Amino acid sequence: MNIVVGVTGGIAAYKSVHLVRLLTKAGHEVTVIPTEDALRFVGLPTWEAISRHPVTTSVHDDVAKVRHVALGQAADLVIVAPATANTIAKMTAGLADDLLGTTLLATTAPVVIAPAMHAEMWQHPATQANIATLRARGVRLVGPADGELAGGDSGPGRMSEPEEIFTAALAALAPGDLDGLRVAVSAGGTREPIDPVRYLGNRSSGRQGAALAIEAAERGAEVLLVAANVSHDVLAITQHPRVRIIGVGTAAELSAAMREAAGKSDAVVMAAAVADYRPVEVADRKLTKESGPLTSIALAENEDIVAGLARDRREGQVIVAFAAETPEAGGGVDDGELMERARRKQQRKGVDVLVVNEVGWDRGFESADNAVRILGPGGAVVGSAAGSKRDVAGAIWDAVVKLSQ
Ligand code: CTP
Repeated sequence: MNIVVGVTGGIAAYKSVHLVRLLTKAGHEVTVIPTEDALRFVGLPTWEAISRHPVTTSVHDDVAKVRHVALGQAADLVIVAPATANTIAKMTAGLADDLLGTTLLATTAPVVIAPAMHAEMWQHPATQANIATLRARGVRLVGPADGELAGGDSGPGRMSEPEEIFTAALAALAPGDLDGLRVAVSAGGTREPIDPVRYLGNRSSGRQGAALAIEAAERGAEVLLVAANVSHDVLAITQHPRVRIIGVGTAAELSAAMREAAGKSDAVVMAAAVADYRPVEVADRKLTKESGPLTSIALAENEDIVAGLARDRREGQVIVAFAAETPEAGGGVDDGELMERARRKQQRKGVDVLVVNEVGWDRGFESADNAVRILGPGGAVVGSAAGSKRDVAGAIWDAVVKLSQ
């Protein structure tokens, strides 16, 4: 494969030397395009030696070969690592004032960027808006990781390790194993109104559902994400041309949206935390102390949405549910008991796949990391994952792919 590696001006440029080495060792033809600034960190001879190709930063070199567009046209993949805040802004605006800029405009190949900058610059609304635009255009991101930054600071902004960028880059080249599949994912937590300002809700942030949506889109699926009360920040990672988002509030709204989506989907993943009960009566005005003491709320049971979807599933459709299980009281986890409870839940709901997720006060909900076991048909463990919610999402889609074959 022809791979262009754009290197921009950050200290992490030295790590990209190793990235180029990994790519050439794997048999790829690599052309490095540093920016002028990048050359202040790692010099031209290093890039030429490591890539075994001539390296230039300027659109005025090698004009006879129309190098300013030829490299982009011939590329099967373009990686920008590190991608500084400045380069990300230039990419968003489509600036073409150097060879990397023209190459990025001339290419139709997948583009993978590995941002690297200080946490403040990464979190700045300008950078976040640029990232959202790039994602919506199909640019893939690796990182940034949370960790030590130049100057002794720490936070999000550290460039991912070369091995991780290498893996993500090759994944971008591989045909997606969800190509052509239509999937529906629910995310977040429902809110059942008590009065105009209060509700019964839960602590689900929607992060796991968002990770499932973007993972599926990047693997080729058309995704409908039904988001129950998910914040903009969480939804930001799902910006992708193949992800469509519908916002819902209550369990009844979620049910209606999922039923409609399921009618057109090859796989349905219910990652949303659905309220099992709703107040029987919803006051149309805010309840006050003057309206009398409120010591109890009468509840009615909500339908089990995923059980209904499984009952009415289309031929060949794969239905995935989650089981959020808390460990035994007293802190001791009886693993056998927990798994048996999960298997009973899988049978009761009639779902093909059940993702067993142990939640406590500091795991699962709201947190970035997760540990799950995945039950397939008959309750057999067909996968497991521990790590980021994106890792968990990957393992879940792996299980769906196996079942759809
Ligand atoms: N779910 C659903 N409709 C409901 C409740 C839950 O579709 N009314 C789905 C969730 O989206 C999740 C799965 O069912 O995929 C498991 O939810 P969980 O709360 O663990 O199970 P419950 O059926 O509520 O069982 P219990 O609370 O008794 O453990």
